Amino acid sequence: MDFELSETQRQVRDMTHQFAKDEVRPQAAALDREARFPRDLVRRMSELGLMGMMVPEASGGAGLDAVSYAIAMENVSWGCASTGVIMSVSNSLYCDPVLKHARPALHDGWLAPFARGERLGCFGLTEPMSGSDAQNMATRAERRGDRYVLRGQKNFITNGPEADAIVVFASHGAGIEADGTSAFIVPRDTKGYLVEASDKKLGIRGAHSCSIAFDDCEVPEEMRLSTEGAGFKIAMQTLDGGRIGVAAQALGIARAAYEAARDWALERKAFGKTISEHQAIQFKLADMATEIDAARLLTWRAAFLKDKGLRHSRESAMAKLYASEVATRVTKEAIQVFGGYGYITEYPVERHFRDAKICEIYEGTSEIQRIVIAAQVFKQGVTGALGY
Ligand code: CAA
Repeated sequence: MDFELSETQRQVRDMTHQFAKDEVRPQAAALDREARFPRDLVRRMSELGLMGMMVPEASGGAGLDAVSYAIAMENVSWGCASTGVIMSVSNSLYCDPVLKHARPALHDGWLAPFARGERLGCFGLTEPMSGSDAQNMATRAERRGDRYVLRGQKNFITNGPEADAIVVFASHGAGIEADGTSAFIVPRDTKGYLVEASDKKLGIRGAHSCSIAFDDCEVPEEMRLSTEGAGFKIAMQTLDGGRIGVAAQALGIARAAYEAARDWALERKAFGKTISEHQAIQFKLADMATEIDAARLLTWRAAFLKDKGLRHSRESAMAKLYASEVATRVTKEAIQVFGGYGYITEYPVERHFRDAKICEIYEGTSEIQRIVIAAQVFKQGVTGALGY
């Protein structure tokens, strides 16, 4: 078994770590405090090829693999979790389904500028009355000749306030069957595409989300992804990839909190010695380090399977479930290591704690990940696509 990174993956690791350290991290506290979208960092991520990493170069992307993407996501999120999720929505939730399912004729207009980061995409599945139960959507797509008319509302749309286009899911009928759903690319300037006010959030405050309403929004048939009725499976496959991004984001947040706690433990003194010399603190840091490593291995395994073109629903769900719960635990323990200083905004760990929580919720809650894993467990016994 080879755990080594390739030369390209090492270059991505070094480049994104440097970028996160020099440019992203210095802005993170202010972006959170001011709930400000990091326009300059998005421009820099575009220049560095981070907005469409897995899209082939011929279609405007960086032509890299999913393992490189997970490494980059971890590093950018280590610098700033808000910047990380903006990047992950562009890569996993917009570019990925458009690359896989849009007609090739759409690539010039609706993939390449997004993969280059000149334009920004978002993803609309969740609705006010359906989050986990994603098939049960109220948004409707009514066919009229060679067009569809969309009616409904999507909410919690990350990048929604800034996005130039959305990949949106709508049902064709009254039923809730998966085969009654289609996916469409809808440009922001379409009549009836209504962007609502940004949500006010606990964490990842520099990344904006909002509701988007579709008020008799007309979309030509060619903007539909894949065939009519393929929408739900496209959503699920897209989320299999998206969950790798969220797992990597959670890893970055956890690592930032762990490193802060470690550095603090080496400085802070209590009872005549640094707290790093107290076993109570050593054990906390040992647990953090172990859990972060385990989460990274799960995340990279899911990315490896994606690169091999193998089904990775179970592995992505395991990675997302575990990494996001690790991030919550590690950030909480980091506050404990800091004591009272961890609770005030002068130090970063309270922000890491607030940023971590969403990883257990978006792109499928921890409960949904357990449903996905359990379904695969019962289908395949204990054996995944890799034969173990
Ligand atoms: N790949 C391919 N096909 C899949 C699939 C996958 N990963 N998952 C399911 N399918 C197929 C099934 O095989 C089935 O097909 P057949 O009918 O042909 O057998 C069909 O889809 C229906 O599958 P299920 O019966 O499993 O569907 P379900 O209704 O029971 O739901 C679920 C399954 C796992 C609970 C799903 O609804 C789910 O993942 N819910 C959570 C949704 C979610 O993650 N939302 C987050 C929104 S994105 C976000 O957060 C945005 C943001 O801005 C960051």
